[in-house]
Amino acid sequence: MMRRVESRGEVRGTVRVPGDKSASHRALMLSALAAGESTIEGLSPGLDVAATSQIVVQLGATRRDENGVVALRGPDAGLRASSQPLWCGNSGTTMRLVSGIVSAIEGRHRLEGDPSLSRRPMDRIAIPLGLMGAVIRGEGPRVTPPLTILGASRLDGVDFHVPTSSAQVKSAVLLAGLFAKGPTSVEEDVRTRTTTEDMLRLAGVVVESVDVDDGRRVTLIPSRPRARAWRVPSDPSQAAFFCVLGVIHPHADVEVLDVEASPERIGFVKVLQRMGADLSERAAASGVTLRSRSSTLSATEIHAKEIPSVDEVPVLSVAAAAARGVSAFRDMGELRLKESDRFEGSMALARRLGCRVWSEGDDFFIEGLSSAQAFSSFAINAGLDHRIVMSSAVAGAAGHGCDIDGSDTVSSSYPGFFDDLASLR
Ligand code: S3P
Repeated sequence: MMRRVESRGEVRGTVRVPGDKSASHRALMLSALAAGESTIEGLSPGLDVAATSQIVVQLGATRRDENGVVALRGPDAGLRASSQPLWCGNSGTTMRLVSGIVSAIEGRHRLEGDPSLSRRPMDRIAIPLGLMGAVIRGEGPRVTPPLTILGASRLDGVDFHVPTSSAQVKSAVLLAGLFAKGPTSVEEDVRTRTTTEDMLRLAGVVVESVDVDDGRRVTLIPSRPRARAWRVPSDPSQAAFFCVLGVIHPHADVEVLDVEASPERIGFVKVLQRMGADLSERAAASGVTLRSRSSTLSATEIHAKEIPSVDEVPVLSVAAAAARGVSAFRDMGELRLKESDRFEGSMALARRLGCRVWSEGDDFFIEGLSSAQAFSSFAINAGLDHRIVMSSAVAGAAGHGCDIDGSDTVSSSYPGFFDDLASLR
């Protein structure tokens, strides 16, 4: 679907972004793995999380919705294989984490995704899950979807060093480890989000975590998660869009209410503050409320380690486009393997805004235009990537408008995004 985003004279108001996608997937999965009924409040309304929900139901969980709260019951006898393919849609988190779960369920499982997901590498989970005793087959050397997984009810524990840091890989291994014969350890060189470890602990599983240099080592003792009441906090990666809009728009004062603020998720705030953004943090019930106001930005150097998982890089490249000077984005190779090639996509977006842009290996550079007022009006194809849609919309609203082809992909994480954007007047 093609959508026009008009330039906005002013953006003022308050937004509450949807439930965190990472926590939503895990709340559904851990509830399905537990015996008995769990409740989940604040579940992400996106299609990615809906795919996970559909899959856990196919595997034997039952779901009931009451007044915006999801009640999910895991079968006493545990989940079982489905005779039908498990549809993961656009969602890498669904495919990688569900792979961990079904690796420990006896039988044959088929996992499928849309054309974007079907180009994403699954060798990163096939290797450790294979070491644990599951068999994972995909297409070609990078093991791209569709996947066929032969699960085994008694996996071996593993001691695995994740070669390219990824919260999804860490999580897939830990979820499979729940049903292994002995402990499972995962070591990462960069500290990625701890959603899985934190939520497993809340569900009564013993998980130990120690820092090792810049990374950490996580060890899990196998046990079945317990049913409980989950409360999903708001998604900081969605808050990032409104924070950038607030700081680059010349007449803006935007508040994003109560978002999750663990250090692995909130790196973008520090980056923007370093660029000179008037972006303040105030303690709130489950994290921080962020207030972002019109600012004059200077270029900065951003390393992937500051923003593990690099989800906020496309919108930070819009901030760089509005800054004075050349911003450097370092070690950004993982961007190429997201819902679209966000390495090319972030550069293409800045280029369309009128910036000079170039790359060297896994680094790319954007020479900013000093103000969003200098952005060109532009058209872009978002290529099945929700974050490219929202980053483009931010640039168009702060600058001189844009046309986004494929804007409906926003539904994978944030179906109400354009309504929330329109609510800022
Ligand atoms: C996620 C991990 C990240 C991130 C994704 C969600 C998760 O990917 O990009 O949007 O919920 O575990 P990595 O596995 O590359 O860290």
